[in-house]
Amino acid sequence: MQGDMEVGSMRAELAKHGQEHLLNHWDSISTEEKKLLMKELQELDFKELNEYFNRTVGELESAGQKLDDRMEPLDEDQCGAMVKSTNEELDHYESLSMSEIGEGRVGILLLAGGQGTRLGTSYPKGMYDVGLPSGKTLFQLQAERILKLERLAAARTGKDGKITWYIMTSASTVGPTQAFFSSNNYFGLKQENIVVFQQGTLPCFTFQGKILLAEKHKLSRAPDGNGGLYRALRVQGVLEDMKKRGIKSIQLYCVDNILVKVGDPVFMGYCLAKGAECANKVVRKGFPTEAVGITCKVDGHYQVVEYSEITNSSAERKNHDGSLVYSAANICIHFFTFEFLERVVTKNEKSLQHHVAKKKIPFVDESGEIVSPSTPNGIKMEKFVFDVFRFANNFVVWECLRDEEFAPLKNAEGAKDFTPSYCRNALLSLHQKWLKMAGAQIVSGSGTEYPLMTSPASEGNNNSESIEDEPEVVLTEICPLLSYAGEGLEPLVSGKKLTPPIHLTLSS
Ligand code: UD1
Repeated sequence: MQGDMEVGSMRAELAKHGQEHLLNHWDSISTEEKKLLMKELQELDFKELNEYFNRTVGELESAGQKLDDRMEPLDEDQCGAMVKSTNEELDHYESLSMSEIGEGRVGILLLAGGQGTRLGTSYPKGMYDVGLPSGKTLFQLQAERILKLERLAAARTGKDGKITWYIMTSASTVGPTQAFFSSNNYFGLKQENIVVFQQGTLPCFTFQGKILLAEKHKLSRAPDGNGGLYRALRVQGVLEDMKKRGIKSIQLYCVDNILVKVGDPVFMGYCLAKGAECANKVVRKGFPTEAVGITCKVDGHYQVVEYSEITNSSAERKNHDGSLVYSAANICIHFFTFEFLERVVTKNEKSLQHHVAKKKIPFVDESGEIVSPSTPNGIKMEKFVFDVFRFANNFVVWECLRDEEFAPLKNAEGAKDFTPSYCRNALLSLHQKWLKMAGAQIVSGSGTEYPLMTSPASEGNNNSESIEDEPEVVLTEICPLLSYAGEGLEPLVSGKKLTPPIHLTLSS
């Protein structure tokens, strides 16, 4: 029979690559399940997968100490910073970006394919509401910032420019993300300017290199990491779409940062002014063991060394003045020119290494039972989005202010940092600061002025001891459609007394 021949040759193919156990339960699954399993197996290249595994595990064993010797801090002359720039320079950067937006040449890439395991939600992180007065989700805040940026660009250039928003999802986030945007009418953005696409997955392995079964007829799979972006850009036709639309400058960010200045004109303008083809936006690292990657050079090439891969001795290395040698914290906001992206997607994507995450991965054992391990039993292989930095000819770094731009939602309430209330308070305190700078007084019902809330994201405040002191929460929120980054508030609030809860919107 055709089916038997098919199984026979698949068995032989699997045996050649040490994966014959994947057909262990063949005789006890239904005809429909047989079809699904066969299709899944036929679509895989086992030789390539085994190569990935061997290379990844090999690199894991030779990493660590050796990396320390190969790391160097960044060159000062390639690092611009908010605090080092004059108002004229910042204004120049902004105007370069506004013309780029006016010409419709800007694309924004959102990474939203993560599984949000640490936060523990069953839905995409972008749909999370951290408890702001408006009840807005991360997706809505981001959409409104894009809309406002388009309006600011139109006002400044007189051209009705547009921004195309590319949203990378994964198997688990694609459906809910699409449904959420559609049921919210794309938050006022044009549907044709939002492109949702999906990253791929890779099978999970045991430490011995055997692929795990999630069900008798299904392999255990995980998203291929945020660096799966580059493959997805090619296979999902996104690069082609960018080309058709004439997109030249692309900013990338990750979904969880509540303060993210989506499409930041200052950062992009700095990159344009420097003629950079690739860039990273960073903040000063809060404390040596903070769970952020650091931007540095490895073997002379620009790279982010991830928090899971840096040794303590490098993380803690200090300069004479006591500052950290490796302090340029990666906040997952990058800039690429279209040419650069096209080049890495077509030429370098395949050579990007995988990184290993040791995980507790539920699996079907030999007897056909599903086992949920209590200790890590296998690995997920992931590519990292920043691993393309090394291919850049002109790479620059821009340092922004943490309390204005970085408060990521990573953990569930109760953790030390990066929780929903951490994010909410970071945004509330920033908006309170904007109002104060615009000349407003935030007062209680009895007329007493509130002191400025201490942002959990302030520099030097980001450590476990101070996070435990809950700041007094002043409910002060400004709609992104009213102000993108604190601008334009003075005529509205100067000299006024406002009493929380405050939610300033376009119509208020
Ligand atoms: C990431 C950075 C880290 C940085 C930190 C700042 C990477 C590899 N690491 O770490 O250097 O200091 O953010 O917040 O970029 N994602 C996908 N597909 C995946 C996995 C993740 O789209 O397969 C997306 C997530 O939805 C998220 C972003 O990538 O938007 C970052 O992923 P996450 O796993 O949260 O990265 P961190 O470990 O926090």
